[in-house]
Amino acid sequence: MLRCWAVLVAALGLGVAEDFPWTKNNPGSFYYGTFPAGFLWGVGSSAYQTEGAWDKDGKGPSIWDVFTHRKGRVVRNETGDSACDGYYKVKDDIQLLKELKVNHYLLSISWPRIMPTGIKAEQLNEKGIQFYNDTINSLLENNITPIVSLYHWDLPQVLQEKYGGWQNISMINYFNDYANLCFEKFGDRVKHWITFSNPWAVAEKGYETGEHAPGLKLGGCGAYKAAHHIIKTHAKVWHSYNNTWRREQRGMVGISLTSGWGEPVDPHSQTDRDAAERYIQFHLGWFANPIYRGDYPEVMKNYVGRKSAQQGLGTSRLPSFSVQEKTYIKGTSDFLGIGHFTTRYVLQKNFPFLQVSSYHTDHDLAELVDPNWPAPGPKWLYSVPWGFRRLLNFIKTQYGNPLIYVTENGVSETLQCPQLCDEWRIQYLKGYINEILKALNDGVNVKAYTAWSLLDKFEWNKGFSERFGLYHIDFKNKNKPRYPKASVDYYKKIISANGFPNPREVENWHRKAMDTCSATHQHLAADSLITHMEMVTEIVLPTVFTLCILISIVLLIFYLRNHS
Ligand SMILES: *[C@@H]1O[C@H](CO)[C@@H](O)[C@H](O)[C@H]1NC(C)=O
Ligand SMILES: *[C@@H]1O[C@H](CO)[C@@H](O)[C@H](O)[C@H]1NC(C)=O
Ligand SMILES: *[C@@H]1O[C@H](CO)[C@@H](O)[C@H](O)[C@H]1NC(C)=O
Ligand SMILES: *[C@@H]1O[C@H](CO)[C@@H](O)[C@H](O)[C@H]1NC(C)=O
Repeated sequence: MLRCWAVLVAALGLGVAEDFPWTKNNPGSFYYGTFPAGFLWGVGSSAYQTEGAWDKDGKGPSIWDVFTHRKGRVVRNETGDSACDGYYKVKDDIQLLKELKVNHYLLSISWPRIMPTGIKAEQLNEKGIQFYNDTINSLLENNITPIVSLYHWDLPQVLQEKYGGWQNISMINYFNDYANLCFEKFGDRVKHWITFSNPWAVAEKGYETGEHAPGLKLGGCGAYKAAHHIIKTHAKVWHSYNNTWRREQRGMVGISLTSGWGEPVDPHSQTDRDAAERYIQFHLGWFANPIYRGDYPEVMKNYVGRKSAQQGLGTSRLPSFSVQEKTYIKGTSDFLGIGHFTTRYVLQKNFPFLQVSSYHTDHDLAELVDPNWPAPGPKWLYSVPWGFRRLLNFIKTQYGNPLIYVTENGVSETLQCPQLCDEWRIQYLKGYINEILKALNDGVNVKAYTAWSLLDKFEWNKGFSERFGLYHIDFKNKNKPRYPKASVDYYKKIISANGFPNPREVENWHRKAMDTCSATHQHLAADSLITHMEMVTEIVLPTVFTLCILISIVLLIFYLRNHS
């Protein structure tokens, strides 16, 4: 497997990089203190993962509808056809947000729900527009600020079929039309816009490995091309907002980039440090560097360029921006959304020339994990809080200390039975949020935190097998009931204290959260028992009834025979 997930031999040790003074603090120590006044706390979700109603009220199909309907693409062939039924449960979910006392809710708009073919000139779906309009209004009525992402992966299927989706430069104008419609319809009330959520996954999983919709395996080229068009589209939308809407609407337009942190295996080895640098540049820098510095990272241009030449290609597989494009793209983000989940150790690994080119061999590195890192859920999501602080400091130094909104951070579980006492999520949130607090003291400009996510939901190619929610959903029950996990209680406490005031209080929160969850847990267990009993009654009653009739008939026949 080229994407090396080898396990780190413990003997390699956990060194700290010396050129970063902020690592002098013991990475394991907890920092008690509060966030600056006005720090924003929220929770997030996305359209395809939660809404369901995939073909209702005039919505057009997205690439995810088509992808999940093909067998063998998603764990257990599950789909987001109904997901959390969020389309029908806006009021219920807003109650959950109120219970959490969050300042903001990050949601995404499904492009094909408001433009069934993706093309503005062809068709608008008034019911879809109405749906988001009502959702936004309900959030505001409850004093919850909507942060709206325009793209969380559900491209209209027609655009994929006709033009090849993000492989085609024509997406720029179609998306810009869509974005302008959203500004026109909702921009009087929505002041925080995200053009793209995690475009890295769109490019790499959609067009390189094919694990995600549209499921294309265009190794070595597809991801670079998709990303190139996405970056240009982002810039175009930012300029549209700046030129047409900003004066009147006074909002902000940013992008949300998701990246892990890459730590050199041996911090004293220059090659490992260079490899770790490439890890970040090929993930975060791929998108952030053009937007903040006007071009792809130098290491990316060098490595992909060199590998392309070795293959005998006349030009690099990494497209390039013209001088005008660089100027046009640079500076097109009013804030930087950051999604972050985990960390890797990185070391140099040479990939010899291969016939099959790949993004994954272009950067000449291998990723490792420390087996001692906690990984309560899936085997990719290790809890390594200190990596977050390093990532945030990297952003500060590389991109001129931009305004940061943390747009996604959280942990999932893979348990099949309901487990509401999610102690591991409490530890994860506590650790990661604390590293943000430390980063603030380092001078990083973080303004908001968004826990990922509000609900257990459809996790792309993992189906429902991974649960990220603060609220548990019983997907087998057709009403999709929501139950709070212990982390709801704990996160609420962090929000109301605006941080971690002192050890005694924080310890209390933990105890209380675990107490309430065991009570709720019994309730849930009782609930599912009741549904089960109802089911039994439904089966048993008719059966008993039928049996009685049959016995009566037999007896009657007997009786009649004997008397004839
Ligand atoms: C998914 O669908 C494929 C093709 O129909 C089938 O072979 C496979 O067994 C299905 N998997 C599950 C878990 O149902
Ligand atoms: C959206 O809501 C606003 C505020 O209530 C209202 O003025 C507007 O007419 C609504 N638009 C649509 C399309 O329903
Ligand atoms: C891109 O879309 C245009 C139509 O806008 C089409 O003519 C062209 O073939 C498409 N290119 C690719 C690479 O699919
Ligand atoms: C953004 O809009 C303002 C006001 O129209 C304009 O002065 C400024 O040059 C624009 N910024 C960019 C980078 O185009």
